[in-house]
Amino acid sequence: MLALPAVGCRQDMHDAPRLDPLESSTFFADGMAARPIPADTIARGHLNEDPHMYRGMVDGVIADTLPMPLTAELLHRGKQRYEIFCTPCHDATGAGRGMIVRRGFQQPESYHTQRLRAMPVGYFFDVMTNGFGQMSSYAPQVPVEDRWAIAAYIRVLQRSQHAPLDELPRSAVEAMHAALAGGDGHGGDGHTDDHADDGHGGGHHASPADEWHGPEPGYGMDLPVEPSRER
Ligand code: HEC
Repeated sequence: MLALPAVGCRQDMHDAPRLDPLESSTFFADGMAARPIPADTIARGHLNEDPHMYRGMVDGVIADTLPMPLTAELLHRGKQRYEIFCTPCHDATGAGRGMIVRRGFQQPESYHTQRLRAMPVGYFFDVMTNGFGQMSSYAPQVPVEDRWAIAAYIRVLQRSQHAPLDELPRSAVEAMHAALAGGDGHGGDGHTDDHADDGHGGGHHASPADEWHGPEPGYGMDLPVEPSRER
């Protein structure tokens, strides 16, 4: 006897006399409960009017500056986001030999080519925002500020492969001299091409020596050279 009114109550709560988002309705001729949003409507707080921040443009050309201050924090964030979203294809060094590529996906151009090193930083923001050829847009997954952080970090990667010799710490220069003089110093496997299931998993990054498949980094420089500056 008591159960019946209880069930009636429950049904009422489930089928409330209001319309949920995207629910259908016979009230309007198009069968939808909600009205379409008028053209050019912008949700409060989403005007996104700064072309530098949101489109990577300054005065109609691709920006070669960041829309926010360059800080260590921004670069750390960029590194972290890059390693999540980009390394699967572009690899940790940006050479374009990530795991998905090794498994057959189209190989992107290395970030260390002359062409991509000459691109303004806003270009990388643009590629992430709008996609590029086979690469889809990352705008749905990576918020605007993070796309800039990644773009800034790509500059770090590019620098890492093309730092002027006289800006390297002495220890790095010495190590390079030693490597050039006496074998590779990396054990025998430095040039194994496809160590697909190798021991690099779990947070330990493949070293640039393992990953690099472009021109030998730095070996085009005139060596030996005395470093003009020490650190
Ligand atoms: C699923 C693989 C994949 C992922 C993940 C990926 N990319 Fe790409 N990317 C590509 C491919 C493939 C190309 C080359 C596309 C083409 O030429 O059609 C490319 C090209 C590029 C280029 C070069 C454009 C040019 O002018 O040659 C940049 C810059 C770039 N990607 C940045 C990024 C960044 C930053 C991320 C992370 C947010 C990312 N990509 C994630 C596959 C990927």
